Amino acid sequence: MGKSTNITWHETTITKADRRIQNGHGSCVLWFTGLSGSGKSTIANAVSYELYRLGINEYVLDGDNIRHGLNKDLGFSEQDRAENIRRIGEVAKLFVDSGKVITTAFISPFRSDRDQVRAIFEEGEFIEVYIDCPLEECERRDPKQLYAKARRGEIKDFTGIDSPYEAPENPEIVIHSDKVTVEEAVEQVLHYLREKNII
Ligand code: ADX
Repeated sequence: MGKSTNITWHETTITKADRRIQNGHGSCVLWFTGLSGSGKSTIANAVSYELYRLGINEYVLDGDNIRHGLNKDLGFSEQDRAENIRRIGEVAKLFVDSGKVITTAFISPFRSDRDQVRAIFEEGEFIEVYIDCPLEECERRDPKQLYAKARRGEIKDFTGIDSPYEAPENPEIVIHSDKVTVEEAVEQVLHYLREKNII
């Protein structure tokens, strides 16, 4: 139960179904999850670029960016990560309601947090995309030099080092980002969207 009382849900005149008809495509969230450095943001952005090129209404929500604004009050404890993911889930739901195909790039390391987000969507709207990349490879890439810092003990609760990552059990899409190119990863996602008649 939320804290607000005496509030009523108002149905909008224009519905999600209307917006989808106007757009000429479906709407959904492509929920990217994976270790830091696995390629979530890169692939999510490349997918969005390709969707844009195809004339599809898209948007990207990215962990590092959202943590500069909406979620700047949150850190990396389990509790804060849960709240981070809960808020992004709600924002993603608004975007899906607005008729867009949205990509989200958050580590979202905890299965229960991701499953709670899945639960607020209708069947088929939440597409979990697991960016599967071995920790050793992410650490070798270390684009932001954060693994090095974490190993030196300068960052605590770093995912994969001293904070866990729980891999999805039944993701809709698995991308082995250490084995495929970005273009191949994009094609994999687009193929899924076409197969499901979303685009
Ligand atoms: S999540 O776990 O709550 O989903 P989110 O995706 O928003 O994380 O943010 C992860 C980004 O924050 C990483 O890509 C990295 O740049 C930065 N970061 C800073 N501290 C940490 C940390 N302790 N663990 C993981 N990422 C961190």
